[in-house]
Amino acid sequence: MTEKATLLIGNERYEFPLLSGSENEKCIDIGNLRATTGCITMDPGYGNTGSCYSSITYVDGKNGVLRYRGYPIEELAEKIGFVEAAYLILYGELPTISQLNDFRLALAEHAPIHTNLEHHFSGFPKSAPPMAILSAMLNLVSCFHPEVLDVHSEGPGFDRTVALLLSKVRTIAAFSYRMAAGKPLNHPNPNLSYCNNFLHMMFSEPYQEYQPHEVIEKALSLFLVLHADHEQNCSTSTVRVVGSSRANLFSSVSAGVCALWGPLHGGANTAVVKMLEDIRTSGKPLDHYLDRAKDRNDHFRLMGFGHRVYKNFDPRSLILKKRVYDVLNQLQKDDPLLEIALRLEEKTLKDDYFICRNLYPNVDFYSGILLRAIGIPLNMYNVLFAIGRMPGWISNWRELLEHKQRISRPRQIYTGSTSRAFVPAEER
Ligand code: ACO
Repeated sequence: MTEKATLLIGNERYEFPLLSGSENEKCIDIGNLRATTGCITMDPGYGNTGSCYSSITYVDGKNGVLRYRGYPIEELAEKIGFVEAAYLILYGELPTISQLNDFRLALAEHAPIHTNLEHHFSGFPKSAPPMAILSAMLNLVSCFHPEVLDVHSEGPGFDRTVALLLSKVRTIAAFSYRMAAGKPLNHPNPNLSYCNNFLHMMFSEPYQEYQPHEVIEKALSLFLVLHADHEQNCSTSTVRVVGSSRANLFSSVSAGVCALWGPLHGGANTAVVKMLEDIRTSGKPLDHYLDRAKDRNDHFRLMGFGHRVYKNFDPRSLILKKRVYDVLNQLQKDDPLLEIALRLEEKTLKDDYFICRNLYPNVDFYSGILLRAIGIPLNMYNVLFAIGRMPGWISNWRELLEHKQRISRPRQIYTGSTSRAFVPAEER
């Protein structure tokens, strides 16, 4: 028998089905709330609102658990690279060796971009933020591949579109960096792995081919694995909202890039490094920054801390913290920002303000230091996040089509003027 939740409004009693997911998370199905009670719910920021059923990623924020398609993130981070993780997220199962090889071949095949599309890069000012270029160019790709405008959620057409998008996002990202740096574009090399091909397009010079470095390739792949999906976060929800109008995949993920750009979301990795740099150069004590973060009248927040869902450690930050050490050691590098980050974390763990509010380092706290270690320029950090998040965005877009999700259209409570008489201009 279905469990019920009871709602009492005045003397009226209403019952709603109580449903649960495969991990026994509970929800009250209020699909007919407005029709039966005349009321809507109010939940700005959607902290209590489920917007969909999904079988892609599971997050248990209380216990610091993250799983893609049932596999714990700790194990995936250890055992597979980004292309394999992307396949898992997109298709629901770990690939066989031949499926993985085919997927890799498809990614290699779709890496180049149309020459006419390439010309658009020269139209951006040198100061253009790479996230703006990425978002614009992802939308533009569809102009050069009109067939993707009519893509469905399954079949060879969908597989081709997936490979096209996952591959081209990396080429566009690298080209946007080269263009902003005033350097010639490097065309993709199909013989290189996904990550090495990106690094080659970023860093090869006409006089010197980029030499792949195993430590750097693995660190980049790990970064992308850890960012590959995170259920209904701000950018993924944006992709779903846009996709719910049956907008094509390219315009939907282009909107996802815009949502990811903000400093409260994907822009936080850049903001963390800027904050740590500021701490280093200002010479001010860490308490100064903690006091500012705690001051309600100061807009300053400790970047890389806090999370809507994790009320315990973000498992991705634990993995990154450990790996940053390894990577710096293997590359025989030292980064003063790591030491500042560690001291900052230590202080927050003893501070009542952070303890009471469950504010722990999130994925962005150590990821910027990892990207610094492997030589990624600061203005590309959130672009790297966008490349990593692409499998999650695509899978969520696909799922919403499969589930025939209704168009997203929240309600509001109007607080403006009630009906009033129009006043002609000369009488105002
Ligand atoms: N520094 C100081 N105080 C903070 C921080 C922080 N980083 N984060 C939250 N708080 C405080 C808030 O001021 C609030 O305090 P109050 O209860 O006294 O009013 C309380 O903790 C709850 O914070 P909310 O903003 O309500 O939490 P929400 O879930 O809406 O926001 C968010 C989550 C956006 C991540 C927030 O913690 C934040 O701004 N963090 C810094 C930016 C950041 O690192 N973003 C990356 C998140 S991970 C990702 O998107 C990939």
